[in-house]
Amino acid sequence: MVAYKTKVAERIHLPSRDRRERALAEAGYNVFNLDAEDVFVDLLTDSGTGAMSDAQWAAVMRGDESYAGSRSFDELESAVRDVMGFSRVVPTHQGRGAENVLYGTLLSEGDVALNNTHFDTTRAHVANQGADPVDCPVEGAHDLATDEPFKGNFSLERARSVVDEVGAERVPLVISTITNNSTAGQPVSVENTRRVRDFADEIDATFVIDACRFAENAGFVRRREDEFTDADIDEIAREQLGYADAIVMSGKKDGLANAGGFVATDDEALFERCKQRAILYEGFPTYGGMSGRDVAALAVGLREAVEEAYVADRIDGVRAFADLLEDAGVPIYTPPGGHAVYLDAGAALPHLDSDEFPGQALVCELYREGGVRGVELGSFAFPDTDRPELVRLAVPRRTYHTEHFEHVAETAATVIEKRESVAGLEITSEPENRELRHFTADLEPV
Ligand code: F0G
Repeated sequence: MVAYKTKVAERIHLPSRDRRERALAEAGYNVFNLDAEDVFVDLLTDSGTGAMSDAQWAAVMRGDESYAGSRSFDELESAVRDVMGFSRVVPTHQGRGAENVLYGTLLSEGDVALNNTHFDTTRAHVANQGADPVDCPVEGAHDLATDEPFKGNFSLERARSVVDEVGAERVPLVISTITNNSTAGQPVSVENTRRVRDFADEIDATFVIDACRFAENAGFVRRREDEFTDADIDEIAREQLGYADAIVMSGKKDGLANAGGFVATDDEALFERCKQRAILYEGFPTYGGMSGRDVAALAVGLREAVEEAYVADRIDGVRAFADLLEDAGVPIYTPPGGHAVYLDAGAALPHLDSDEFPGQALVCELYREGGVRGVELGSFAFPDTDRPELVRLAVPRRTYHTEHFEHVAETAATVIEKRESVAGLEITSEPENRELRHFTADLEPV
């Protein structure tokens, strides 16, 4: 059931085919280099790109810009307590700021961090502390077609084998990312979360939940985990998050805001340590790199994110987009996740080898054909790993309508019809740090 109507309209344009061709070449066949004005339907990310509600915009006007003791911070603190169940909040400019504050506090050189799957900024922050990020996805997480309900889960089996290998004393941190962005946005069950809590206790580690998409995750839990069929979204969220010692949050996702993030915990000692680090890197602890109006909008957004109608609209909307693509014959990762549909570029362009970057070729064709921007998450973004060739079409919250998604599905179907003419790509320049090359590298058709 649709839960919103439009109050503010933003004009968008589909540039001519000729302009799209030129824009793509000028961008070095890397859509991060495109001007956003040249993009018609922008599915690059669901981060900070959503539409705020009228209540959030009203909060923006009331934002308290005081350097210390801002009333807007009190509103954020009470929203985090009511919605997520934590009493202590350290605000940050966005999610990766929260990662720096928390992981910088918890990790030292030579440590190992376990995560169901590290998102790229998480991996980079763990590595930045001299620690080793190790992924523990469940078996079948990279299987594109199994209809399992919780492919995002954390594998205890894998985690135990890492601990056996390196010793528990080297593993001070266990993270569960809900939903699991780097595993096609798949959800994590509450039962799995309980078991991760027990495991963290066994090895005496701190258990952190990356809660960026906690509300979408709670929506899946209600639909797929029998114990929670009758529970409210916010009850599920508090139950699941409550197993963690601390959470990191990007307000740009399920905070329904354009900026912001935070660390939250009930642990007073951890709170104090995080607060001190946040003063160094983020700002005074009642604004943390956000303006007061951003804090105020985030406080309202967090409450809206657990409204039943919002979550149903969100999950059903992404599902409907996936159905449009499947009906048009476009191969996708199933079941679809909470914030995006992931295309199976390997199946879409089977004539291209992984060293010709089929995912990036598909990203370029979607832009060339229909002005659609997605992101490659395959051998271009993850060099030297054995991942499926995926393209993520992320869905900004409360932003696009059915007609936009129909346009994307038609565009993708047209690309697949002409697949024989789609050329592979080669990299012409890349940064020294290959791990983040997909943001800035240039390519050209081979
Ligand atoms: N953790 C997860 C699971 C994320 O998906 C992101 C961001 C972050 C942390 C960092 O948050 O962007 O506010 O600093 N994901 C965005 C994406 C960028 O497109 O998936 P941030």
